[in-house]
Amino acid sequence: MTTAIETRERLTPGPASSALVEWAYSPSLESTDHVKIEPRYNLFIGGKFVEPHSKRWFETINPATEGTLSEIAEGDAEDVDRAVREARRAYEKVWRKMPAAERGKYIFRIARLIQEKSRALAVVETMNGGKPIKESRDIDIPLAAAHFFYYAGWADKLDYAFPNRTVSPIGVAGQIIPWNFPLLMAAWKLAPALAAGNTIVLKPAETTSLTSLILAQIIQEAELPPGVVNIVTGAGATGAALVSHPDVDKIAFTGSTEVGKRIQRATAGTHKKLTLELGGKAPNIVFEDAPLDQAIEGIINGIYFNQGHVCCAGSRLFVQESIVEPVIRKLRDRIGTLRVGNPLDKNTDVGAINSRAQLDKIRELVDSGIEEGAEIFQSACALPERGFWFAPTFFTGVGQSNRIAQEEIFGPVLSVLTFRTPEEAVEKANNTPYGLSAGVWTEKGSRILKMAQKLRAGVIWANTYNKFDPTSPFGGFKESGFGREGGMHGLGPYVHVE
Ligand code: NAI
Ligand code: MG
Repeated sequence: MTTAIETRERLTPGPASSALVEWAYSPSLESTDHVKIEPRYNLFIGGKFVEPHSKRWFETINPATEGTLSEIAEGDAEDVDRAVREARRAYEKVWRKMPAAERGKYIFRIARLIQEKSRALAVVETMNGGKPIKESRDIDIPLAAAHFFYYAGWADKLDYAFPNRTVSPIGVAGQIIPWNFPLLMAAWKLAPALAAGNTIVLKPAETTSLTSLILAQIIQEAELPPGVVNIVTGAGATGAALVSHPDVDKIAFTGSTEVGKRIQRATAGTHKKLTLELGGKAPNIVFEDAPLDQAIEGIINGIYFNQGHVCCAGSRLFVQESIVEPVIRKLRDRIGTLRVGNPLDKNTDVGAINSRAQLDKIRELVDSGIEEGAEIFQSACALPERGFWFAPTFFTGVGQSNRIAQEEIFGPVLSVLTFRTPEEAVEKANNTPYGLSAGVWTEKGSRILKMAQKLRAGVIWANTYNKFDPTSPFGGFKESGFGREGGMHGLGPYVHVE
């Protein structure tokens, strides 16, 4: 038997850390033998799995190993049309007419089935997307179930959400989701739309479709009436076909600002309602009176959670000048302890980058940071040979105009900037085209309230970061998009109110 724990010299360079020792962990792999991934998945249309019109399938891989997991159908405009027709039929004939309390029961059933299958869903989410199993197990999957539970409760209470108004569903919703929180984003989109009486065509992201397809099996098992939820897999062209379909009444999109703008142009002048949840470049602001060790944990969680593939990641750290030295020192020590590697290991903190394309984008932006003169610090952790990996990284000496201070990197890369006064912090924090989220760290309650008023961001966390709850609305200002998901507000985009 090997000893469970041994000590070793830390790998992190630098005088402050060389004297420290860290606990090394023996492997603690989540097993995969309880998981069934089919060799090939078809489209989910009208309650059945059907072959794509294109007769084409594409491979989906595990980004931690580059091994093939399965083949996914490539839906084209014909498939989208078939799915929209099924959704329309289900809307007119079944779903909109069903008593709201009955609709709620189906949504509760989906929530319970997600809970029941949570272990398998977590493993598949981790294998297909690269995120650490402890995150998919403790965050993605439970939160996805929580969203269905929460909105199931609203289904027969819409009159309370919009008192003294007449509420009706919109019709057929086209929903396009990204790869960073695959099942959770499906839940954010599906749950409120279903509760409000709409039917759906969902387009998952091309690198991470597997948990949406398992969700399709769950939807079958829940005996949801055929056509109420349809899932058409494929890449950007499939999404574009859904956006331009004339019989879709509402588009909900989460993804890049670039594609969001394209969708806004495509829907302009049509009857389609639109909500966009796009990128971010969130400020995480640490004042000199902040509880430092707590703030360090918040900074780490803010940028290295889910490899930094988080639209609301705290990717710009603003530190008050008087505490720059201890903050940098503690940050350096702390990223040296992050365990990077096999996402299926329960001790892993930072998993694999979702795709080669995303890794290339991260590398390009990091190179630009070095070229523009910022100083780079990287964890000296060993990276696996196969798969897509990027060591936790931060930059100091970052200029406001540097690309790494302006553009969304969507990786484990933090830009550290400084400020002297609260006014300067606000001005610098708001100096971005984005406005999705922000963090404030201070002991002073009045300062938290004042900052929250002045920061142009949809979500502001005080002395914490990346906290999510189905009851709490989420969404952006400026180029981070419009519309809210979560909470009572999340029902708004899926209803007509008269
Ligand atoms: P993307 O915006 O291209 O992909 C998101 C979803 O949109 C996917 O399902 C994709 O198939 C679909 N899509 C792509 N082109 C489309 C089109 N023309 N019409 C309709 N749907 C379309 O994002 P991508 O290329 O995967 O990532 C690029 C960058 O976008 C990332 O590096 C990151 O900065 C940002 N991003 C932000 C996300 C967020 O949560 N705000 C999520 C994913 C990416
Ligand atoms: Mg793209």
